[in-house]
Amino acid sequence: MKLTPKSWRSIAFPALTLLSAITLYGCQTTIRTMGMGPPMGSATDVADSQDVWSALQKARLVGSQAEKSKPYMGSPPHGKVLEILHKQITVNGHKGMAIVKRNYGGPGVSINSVGANRSKYLKAITVMYKRETGYDAEDKNWFWAKYKPNGSLHVKEKMGMKIQLAGRVAKGKPEGCISCHQGAPGGDFVFANGIQIR
Ligand code: HEC
Repeated sequence: MKLTPKSWRSIAFPALTLLSAITLYGCQTTIRTMGMGPPMGSATDVADSQDVWSALQKARLVGSQAEKSKPYMGSPPHGKVLEILHKQITVNGHKGMAIVKRNYGGPGVSINSVGANRSKYLKAITVMYKRETGYDAEDKNWFWAKYKPNGSLHVKEKMGMKIQLAGRVAKGKPEGCISCHQGAPGGDFVFANGIQIR
């Protein structure tokens, strides 16, 4: 076979593709085994999210016995109709503020329809929970989580990895809970008015 520029390319491209696939796979394995993954979604983060969920249930911030507040019209990335509640909760002996945002959506969603039937429109529950000093000092020690109505976590797919949305979510990344909430007025990552954290 004469190695024309065209036939050269037909060999080089598949070879390069294969090589990059192998490299990517290798990197992912290294990240997983060395614990160098993103500062979220680890087994500890998932376990913590379950402890937080139980405490939220007890405090009647989530679940079938959850208290109600006033739903209002929201904007992306949170739902079309939102509802915020907050309370101090205790998780594994640590007492801290929990802010719960219920995100409602789907066909026919409106303040009235949500008021009439919350569970029909509930899509996600995004939570900030103030952890012990030193958990994430740079970012005000918030634990972040995005739950489904049944208390399991929402998952984000990135580079073939499934990342559970709990922990220091997307710390150091230009998009995500932490980087967006960094812009909230008052310096404590909270947008809503009238929530006294300490
Ligand atoms: C692109 C920006 C952005 C991202 C990303 C984002 N939020 Fe928010 N979040 C907001 C804004 C703006 C508000 C308040 C305004 C509103 O929606 O009513 C808010 C409100 C909240 C509140 C109520 C307390 C407050 O700050 O007002 C919680 C809890 C919350 N977000 C959790 C999360 C979690 C958990 C994530 C990640 C899974 C996340 N947010 C990602 C912008 C963002």
